[in-house]
Amino acid sequence: MRRATILVSTLAAWLAFAAPAEAQRGQVALPEGDGKDVVEIACTTCHGLGQINGSAGYDAAGWRDLLGTMVSLPDAQATRAAGYLARHFPPKPDQAPALVAGNAQIAITEWTAPTLGQRVRDPADRRLDTDSDGSVWYGNSTMGRIGRLDPGTGEIREWPSPSGPDSHPYALAVVDDIIWYNESGMRPDALVRFDPATEEFQSWPIPSGYGIVRNMWVTEDGNLLIHQSSSNRIGLVEIQRPRLTSQP
Ligand code: HEC
Repeated sequence: MRRATILVSTLAAWLAFAAPAEAQRGQVALPEGDGKDVVEIACTTCHGLGQINGSAGYDAAGWRDLLGTMVSLPDAQATRAAGYLARHFPPKPDQAPALVAGNAQIAITEWTAPTLGQRVRDPADRRLDTDSDGSVWYGNSTMGRIGRLDPGTGEIREWPSPSGPDSHPYALAVVDDIIWYNESGMRPDALVRFDPATEEFQSWPIPSGYGIVRNMWVTEDGNLLIHQSSSNRIGLVEIQRPRLTSQP
C-alpha cells in the first residue's frame, strides 16, 4: 500500500513537471478498479476525465496507442492504465464509424506533432492554413507556440508566441505568406502578426476580445474578418500594404 502511494505521488510530481496544466473541464468520477489510480493522476493534468467518458471507447491496444500520444508512462503503468480503460470504457457500438457505400477513394497521410499531448485541431480552415509553398501553419495552443509543417520533407518547426506558454493561439489565417492569429489566453485577445521571412512578431489588443476570438477569415481583398462569440461581434482588420509607386 505504502509502495503504491509512493509510486503514485512520484508519478504525480513527475507529470506535474512534464505536462502543462489546463482547465479541468468535464471532471467525472471513475469506476473502481485496478489502474484507476494511474488514470486519475496521469490523465487529469491537461483535461478532465470527461474526455475518457465521452470518447468512442477502445480496446486495450487502442487505449495504449491513444495514451501514448499524450503521456509517456513507464511500461507497467501504461499497461495497467490501458487495461483499466479497456475494461471500463470499451468501444461503444453506437459511435463506431459506418462505411458508406460508394467508390470514393481517399489517401490519408499522418504526421506526428512534436510534443506529447499536443493536438493540432480543426482542419476546417479555422486553426490551420497553408502558405504559397504549401507549408501548413498551425497553432500549438497547449504550449503557446505556432508551428509550420513542410509536407514535402515532414519537417516541423515551432516558434514561441510573444505572450508565452499560456497565450493559447486559436484562430489562424495566412495572408500574403504572413501568419495572423489571436492569442486567446490574453485579455483582451491579442492579434498577432508573424513574418516567417524575418521571424518577427507584432501584436495588438483586439478591442472586443474579452471572450475568445474563434474564427478568422480572409476577405477577397486580403483583409481579415474576425469573429468573437462572447461579445456577439465580428470585426474587420484592415491590413496596410506598402504602396507601390510607379517609376517615370
Ligand atoms: C499533455 C497533455 C495531455 C495529457 C497528460 C493527457 N491528454 Fe488526453 N488529450 C489531450 C488533448 C490536447 C486532447 C484534445 C482535447 C480537445 O480536443 O479538446 C486530448 C483528448 C483526449 C481524448 C479524446 C479524444 C480521443 O481521441 O478519443 C481522450 C479519450 C483522452 N484525451 C484520453 C487521455 C488519457 C486516457 C490520458 C491519460 C493516460 C490523457 N488523455 C492524458 C492532452 C492530454
